[in-house]
Amino acid sequence: MVSVDQVLSTLSTVIDPDLKKSIVSMGMIKDLEINGSELKFTLELTTPACPFNDEIEQDVRKAIASIKEISKLDLKVTAKVMEGRSLSVDQMLPTVKNIIGVASGKGGVGKTTVSVNLALALAKTGAKVGLLDADIYGPSVPLMLGMDKAAMEVDNNKLQPVESHGIKVVSFGFFAEQAHQAAIYRGPIISGILKQFLVDTNWSDLDYLIVDLPPGTGDIPLTLAQTIPITGIVVVTTPQDVASNIAVKAFGMFQKLNIPIMGVIENMSYFTCTNEIEVPKRLWGKTKKKCGKIHYIFGKDGAKRMSEKHNLQFLGGIPLNPGIMEGSDSGRPVLVSDPNSTMSQSFMTVAKNVAARCSVLASQLGDEMKDAAAN
Ligand SMILES: Nc1ncnc2c1ncn2[C@@H]1O[C@H](COP(=O)(O)OP(=O)(O)OP(=O)(O)O)[C@@H](O)[C@H]1O
Ligand SMILES: [Mg+2]
Repeated sequence: MVSVDQVLSTLSTVIDPDLKKSIVSMGMIKDLEINGSELKFTLELTTPACPFNDEIEQDVRKAIASIKEISKLDLKVTAKVMEGRSLSVDQMLPTVKNIIGVASGKGGVGKTTVSVNLALALAKTGAKVGLLDADIYGPSVPLMLGMDKAAMEVDNNKLQPVESHGIKVVSFGFFAEQAHQAAIYRGPIISGILKQFLVDTNWSDLDYLIVDLPPGTGDIPLTLAQTIPITGIVVVTTPQDVASNIAVKAFGMFQKLNIPIMGVIENMSYFTCTNEIEVPKRLWGKTKKKCGKIHYIFGKDGAKRMSEKHNLQFLGGIPLNPGIMEGSDSGRPVLVSDPNSTMSQSFMTVAKNVAARCSVLASQLGDEMKDAAAN
């Protein structure tokens, strides 16, 4: 009969492409049982949204197939998101595994659109997701999710997030009376509100908490960076901004505060022509089809080049699509109204890349904590 040791050393040859570590050393193999020639175990992946999950599962099956003593494999695949936050500061929000800020150098680049759809895309992979609208001066998440009539309740001195399409949402927009006065509030009050939203909310167990930030590097991004340990920041940019270095300024502040920059998302990357054009039929006559030609209106690969220059990860591009605006205004984000569209697929890709970055950062954090404990 094959030994546990033999199975584990065979499985050690399977390397997680993101984390560059063996799946055995990462503790991904659980509940291993050998019964004669039958092998049973659970493969616990680091996130349901990992872009390499299928590849890892196939590599595991291939590795096991190479052990000739095993005739049957009963493999269960699950995912448990790793904690990407150091919780040394008073164990703040210990039930939230990852906090991801969505920032930009200037306004109107699509942070809120990205935050909402990124949160929905992560939830679609099976993760537990929260969305905090930290744009206290101009909360637009309720409108985008069609929750403008929602109100928040308080239970046991904790704010209760409001559920929408499977995600938990908190926004200053839910306090209708106060929301339109926010513009007159000064820094310390705004920071206090954000701290309360973060810490005095009953988020319960979350794999990812997405924080939609206002543009620039003012009080709110600073409060987020200084109040609570966060996994990192994703920077949203448009191809037009790349040349002017506006996005670079936004991540400079976070780098100074030692907050990891998880990567760059390019919004309004390209436009796909939807005009109907006539094309010849195979035998005779003509037929109509969608043009489908891709136009890089503001230039191609700008954010990718910027990311390479600053040694940052490029997390993906989102096309320019007039439907996005209509969907946002009517409270039906594209991931809900048209989940199979190219637009939604691009958000799914970004979400998987963000989740993969969380796993990498969590793994690095784990190593640092082990090193600190050893010294
Ligand atoms: N990919 C896209 N295609 C078409 N329109 C878009 C796209 N992304 C965002 N928009 C539109 O651009 C406008 C600004 O988007 P959004 O509110 O998400 O930006 P923001 O960066 O959060 O803005 P602010 O800085 O004011 O918070 C909205 O009307 C939105 O519908
Ligand atoms: Mg916004």
